[in-house]
Amino acid sequence: MKLFRRKHAADLQAEAKADQSLKRALGPVNLTALGIGAIIGAGIFVLTGQAAAKYAGPAIVLSFILAGMACAFAGLCYAEFAAMIPMSGSAYTYGYATLGEFVAWIIGWDLILEYLFAASTVAVGWSGYVVSFLKEFGIVIPAQFTSAPYDHHAPLDAGWNMWRLFTEGWVSTGATLNVPAMVIVGLVTFLLVLGIKESASFNNVIVAVKLAVILTFIAVGFAFINRHNWQPFVPPAIGPGEFGWGGVLRGAGVIFFAYIGFDAVSTAAQEAKNPQRDMPIGMLASLGVCTILYIIVALVLTGVVNYKSLNVPAPIAVAVDSFGANLAWLRTVIKVGAIAGLSSVILVMLLGQPRIFYCMSKDGLLPKVFSSVHPKFKTPWIAQIFTGMVAMLVAGLFPIGLLGELVSIGTLLAFLIVCAGVLVLRKLHPEIHRPFRTPAVWVVAPLGIFFCGWLMSGLPRDTWARLIVWMLLGFVIYFSYSHRHSKLHHGLGGKTIPPKPE
Ligand code: ALA
Repeated sequence: MKLFRRKHAADLQAEAKADQSLKRALGPVNLTALGIGAIIGAGIFVLTGQAAAKYAGPAIVLSFILAGMACAFAGLCYAEFAAMIPMSGSAYTYGYATLGEFVAWIIGWDLILEYLFAASTVAVGWSGYVVSFLKEFGIVIPAQFTSAPYDHHAPLDAGWNMWRLFTEGWVSTGATLNVPAMVIVGLVTFLLVLGIKESASFNNVIVAVKLAVILTFIAVGFAFINRHNWQPFVPPAIGPGEFGWGGVLRGAGVIFFAYIGFDAVSTAAQEAKNPQRDMPIGMLASLGVCTILYIIVALVLTGVVNYKSLNVPAPIAVAVDSFGANLAWLRTVIKVGAIAGLSSVILVMLLGQPRIFYCMSKDGLLPKVFSSVHPKFKTPWIAQIFTGMVAMLVAGLFPIGLLGELVSIGTLLAFLIVCAGVLVLRKLHPEIHRPFRTPAVWVVAPLGIFFCGWLMSGLPRDTWARLIVWMLLGFVIYFSYSHRHSKLHHGLGGKTIPPKPE
């Protein structure tokens, strides 16, 4: 069946060795920093406070544990693939080797939601912190140019009518465009076109700054915790997905966004010096560090102020306000750290996307121009500029809550498929050399599938509607273009592996 034609994993390994068109400049420290750079961002600086205020209350801590478990299981599966098939393209490439071209396309198309739309989401969070920072110095950017012109309130009577959920309920906010969000995407795109080494060094500095800021918030905040703010820890439900245990689940789906990024390490595989050893290190180390930090930040955040006051563009700054006038300087420092932190997330997301386009184009599923590498900078510059332009538009037009949930659901779907893919490949090709093996794979991968599916089920129907419409659009492109242009279709770029081990 042509839809399920696969690339040979051994061919991919050979391809990875042969393809030297991207510079190999990244070691384990850079890769871990790349992971942390991608992970800590709008999720912790913006969405955690908002999700606590709207869905979970102090139990957002439990949401973090739940989402962290989904990531840990998926991360272990990701690491097996990333070490075995150390090529840029991430889950897309793994899908091609295991579940076939059509599923690979689904993942690749889905990863656009993760990377490109996440860059836009974080840019909106960046804009919120920049506007608030500038205000402290008396510089006021008119509100009309600092938020999205559209918001969405799902029609309550739409049930599971996907089309109504998708098309109805859009309201104009009166704003024109989120200009700062667009500007940061443009600037980062420019930097990335210039080259990976420079970008990675820049990333390392920013990661240090944001870790320092978060640790300071935790250290100072501990002294201001008022245990009454944690009562009740799980506020009683007031509607589906609003507080109670349903709220904890929805909260987990929303703040899952905060963990996204560890897999971005895998998209830089072809730029890693020793991918087999360093990719699992980079992914799992960054995920571990961030999980611990998140749980503590969530505890401190909901401990120092009442969760109801956190539905604002800069929730961490609100918490710092409660420390008193003596510590007002800390608020400014936190904002600077947040701005730096969010910038590095945008960088990693915008770094990952063109590399996925690059692989899809090399395989013939996207036009050739997407794999054109700049002769001097050695970067996939056209895909980079295209990514930047679309991300700018999305960042200018849509609000953070809507984008964040869409990114979460898309990424959860990709992770779910990766967990399944690891199992499939273990069964079909047990003989392939796996430098890193997922421990207890027959437990870990099914748990990954379960947790990702469970978190998806907690997200609202309008978010599902957007995911479905996005996937349908992907199917149209696949069947009208990619399927026919695929290199495998023309007998190039890899063999179709038989369903049983040879
Ligand atoms: N995890 C990233 C963030 O929270 C996407 O901004």
